[in-house]
Amino acid sequence: MQSGSLPSQATSPYFDEARSAEVVNARMSDEADGRLRRVMSVLVKHLHAAIKEIEPTHEEWFSAIRFLTETGQMCTDWRQEYILLSDILGVSMLVDAINHRRPSGATPNTILGPFYVANAPEYANGENICLDGKGEPMVVEGRVTDISGNSIPNAKLEVWQTNDDGFYDVQQKGVQPDSNLRGVFTSDAEGRYWFKSVKPRHYPIPSDGPVGKLLEEMGRHPNRAAHLHFIVSAPGFDPVITHIFTPDCPYLSEDAVFGVKRELIAEFTKIDDLDAAKRVGFSSSYWSVSWDFTLATSGKPILANA
Ligand code: BEZ
Ligand code: FE
Repeated sequence: MQSGSLPSQATSPYFDEARSAEVVNARMSDEADGRLRRVMSVLVKHLHAAIKEIEPTHEEWFSAIRFLTETGQMCTDWRQEYILLSDILGVSMLVDAINHRRPSGATPNTILGPFYVANAPEYANGENICLDGKGEPMVVEGRVTDISGNSIPNAKLEVWQTNDDGFYDVQQKGVQPDSNLRGVFTSDAEGRYWFKSVKPRHYPIPSDGPVGKLLEEMGRHPNRAAHLHFIVSAPGFDPVITHIFTPDCPYLSEDAVFGVKRELIAEFTKIDDLDAAKRVGFSSSYWSVSWDFTLATSGKPILANA
């Protein structure tokens, strides 16, 4: 450009509606971190495209700002409303899928959720993690293996679930016994594990904040399909953060956070035989669940479409 002449329309640094994203992205320094440049330029490109498609009024734009402000204000050490927002928009599951592409046959990941607690009580196989005596008794048993079916002894299985009222222990401190329905088990020499608990029920995600209000306004319910959470880990293997779902839950195909995967729906068999119940330490009928975890060796993630 000659000194004194105006920049052409195609390279102008001044804002205009048609080139809005390019104008903003051109302002980024070449010295900015490469990953940050990539992230910000993609975000600006798609954000501007969305705004052009939506054409919000000023009032609509401001109500979006208010929503984001309230979402931040709802966050505490115990409540992460932004993660909840990411969960209900399917973003948490998408980030997880991108980061956990496993070989076929390996147990898939699903959402961690906000109610995991590290260092839960350790139990011997066969013990009962239900401390409040509520709910329908259940026995879960299975094996932890590698992709070829070889046993993985000494695998750590961390399990947690809600009580029969649909709350985690940490949501009801002083109401439920501490560490109710959570515990850590270790697979035996054959990779086997087994424990007692109660059949999980569906429950709502925390919906008393802006995310709950948004769900309601979108005509969506806050319920999660009934599940047990697990983290299964062993040295040399990629730890799996996952669930087991009950097959009879009415919310299976409409889980509020998109956490259900077909491969994670288990069979729950009702055992009505009292002698069998007594043999496992129950005095009434119970649910029996057989579930194996298959771990992939740790290493580089499998590339998409590879
Ligand atoms: C859960 O399964 O515990 C959960 C997951 C996402 C949001 C809220 C709860
Ligand atoms: Fe949960």
